[in-house]
Amino acid sequence: MNIWVVGASSGIGLEVAKQYAANGHRVWISARNEEQLTTIALENKGLLPLPVDITDDNALALAVSQIEQSGQPLDKVIINAGTCEYIDSYEIERDKIRRVMETNFFGAINVVNAVLPLLRLSKKQQPSMDPQLVFVSSSVTYQALPRAGAYGASKAAVRYFAETLRADVVHEGIDVRIVSPGFVKTPLTDQNDFPMPFLLSVENAASRILKGLGGKQFDIHFPKRFTYSLKFMSLLPDCIRLPLVAKASRHDASQLNSSSAHD
Ligand SMILES: NC(=O)c1ccc[n+]([C@@H]2O[C@H](COP(=O)([O-])OP(=O)(O)OC[C@H]3O[C@@H](n4cnc5c(N)ncnc54)[C@H](OP(=O)(O)O)[C@@H]3O)[C@@H](O)[C@H]2O)c1
Repeated sequence: MNIWVVGASSGIGLEVAKQYAANGHRVWISARNEEQLTTIALENKGLLPLPVDITDDNALALAVSQIEQSGQPLDKVIINAGTCEYIDSYEIERDKIRRVMETNFFGAINVVNAVLPLLRLSKKQQPSMDPQLVFVSSSVTYQALPRAGAYGASKAAVRYFAETLRADVVHEGIDVRIVSPGFVKTPLTDQNDFPMPFLLSVENAASRILKGLGGKQFDIHFPKRFTYSLKFMSLLPDCIRLPLVAKASRHDASQLNSSSAHD
């Protein structure tokens, strides 16, 4: 298979790419850091560097033309590139929200726009195979959590978009999926300063992703103990659920009182 992993210079994307390459597939790896991609490709057979910034349509068009020039049909695209910034202030931090949406949501849309023609062509060339378009969302979308207003909203938008797209392209034989990980140890989560329950290694997370994409499940979510807890919580009545979520906030009532006392 010919696979494109977008957001593959570190963490989950890099490990997914390595595992596919180890299984004999040809994997294009993309991220902004060209030097890092080149080093990774030199060290790992089957990985091909394809630097791109997904917020840049021209760069994406160039990357897609390089894949086209290879003359090989594209079988799978994994849109994994992402960033996370938490909201820490009582005032809504609009710049943070815009930055996160720009990469996680609009960046994903830019990739879809660039690759759909290639996936359609691939289906024409190999009618017996359904090319896959995979969005990496997050389990945070099952239940809104404190401080995750920017990140969670961007990933919820990705989930909604992916479900809509699936409904619209399934008749063409394009297999749209989403991946909703819990906490995975990566450079992204290394910045977190709070406990991360059921933290998985990238190796574990990537092998679950490969297994899931080889099966039929639309939403590949893990670890189940964590994702089912969030799904269960979201089903509770608001009068129980919302106070529980507020308890986990750093902005509790005592802080509010003390900050207004200083005003
Ligand atoms: N780790 C977790 O616990 C967890 C949980 C749920 C969901 N996720 C999601 O999983 C995905 C991977 O996360 P990770 O934890 O593995 O993080 P990571 O190690 O920071 O990887 C993010 C990747 O995205 C690339 N990237 C970021 N912005 C980009 C842009 N504008 N254009 C192209 N590439 C870009 C980064 O490379 P460059 O900086 O070089 O561009 C890097 O390769 C993200 O979408 C994240 O939201 C992670």
